[in-house]
Amino acid sequence: MAKDNGNGGLDRVLVLEVARVTEVAAIAAARLRGRGNEKAADKAAVDAMRHELGKVSFRGTVVIGEGEMDEAPMLYIGETVGNGTGPEVDIAVDPLEGTTICAKAMPNALAVLAISERGGLLHAPDMYMNKIAIGPGYPDGIVDLDAPVEENLAALAKAKGVSVSDITACILDRSRHADLIRAVRDAGAGVQLIPDGDIAGVIWTTDSAETGVDIYLGSGGAPEGVLAAAALRCIGGQIQGRLVPSNDEERLRAEKMGITDINRKFTLEDMASPDVIFAATGVTGGSLLDGVRFSNGTAETETIVMRSKSGTVRRIKSRFRNAHHAIEG
Ligand code: FBP
Repeated sequence: MAKDNGNGGLDRVLVLEVARVTEVAAIAAARLRGRGNEKAADKAAVDAMRHELGKVSFRGTVVIGEGEMDEAPMLYIGETVGNGTGPEVDIAVDPLEGTTICAKAMPNALAVLAISERGGLLHAPDMYMNKIAIGPGYPDGIVDLDAPVEENLAALAKAKGVSVSDITACILDRSRHADLIRAVRDAGAGVQLIPDGDIAGVIWTTDSAETGVDIYLGSGGAPEGVLAAAALRCIGGQIQGRLVPSNDEERLRAEKMGITDINRKFTLEDMASPDVIFAATGVTGGSLLDGVRFSNGTAETETIVMRSKSGTVRRIKSRFRNAHHAIEG
């Protein structure tokens, strides 16, 4: 059981600790924005995130990371991180969400992290997950992964008190989504296509007045699905996901990670426990967060950090007098 503040659960002091971790990962990746080198930007974010995680007073185990031990030198699944004292926590990381958009200096690349008490995050293998997500304030179950898309859009529009033509779905711009995109448009709704970055796509549904996105649909990474679920645990909203293994090897990998029913429809409750902390720092600017700003050796970051237990959502603007020291220090 994690140390607490008298209320049980994750210590709220960890909120600031996890924000620091995504801040330094974002600064490291941002130095390589627009260089056309996904791998270098990702490596910089991973190195910085791991270095910073080593200072945090918890005994963390990476449950969603850069891959399995034999394929990822750092932040691999099962790696222990933290300074070896304090509570035991599970950690999901995506040090650079949107490697390609960072390499192209396009909007909405993020450094992302979520923590829970031990066992509080679904151990999702790195494969596709079919997802549906909406923001808070709707009756439970008004949309369903297995329902026809036009039914989901109609139910959402009705609950929102608007017509389907006022609904916008966010979908990754991929050829695999051609039928889905057509179905949404045929139903009369709009589609916001994104080049990458579906954690942000899901989070946008939580503030449709600001973002114009009402529902997230389609398949993306399963790890990103769990991270998005952790965010929705804090802000509110609904998400369902089902793994989409593309071969037997992926089926086996899921089984090895404890998923016995590959066809299971995971709900928000299955993916993230009620006690999680989620943090994301903007690498490139976007509608969720500002990107890192460098000026005369300083760096400024914007981070959103939230805690499900209290429902607190904080936006933290930080200024690092020495950007280099922030990463290496
Ligand atoms: P990376 O940062 O690993 O490149 O992931 C970006 C992303 O767009 C995710 O947000 C999304 O879940 C996944 O890739 C979709 O995968 P694919 O590009 O194969 O469609």
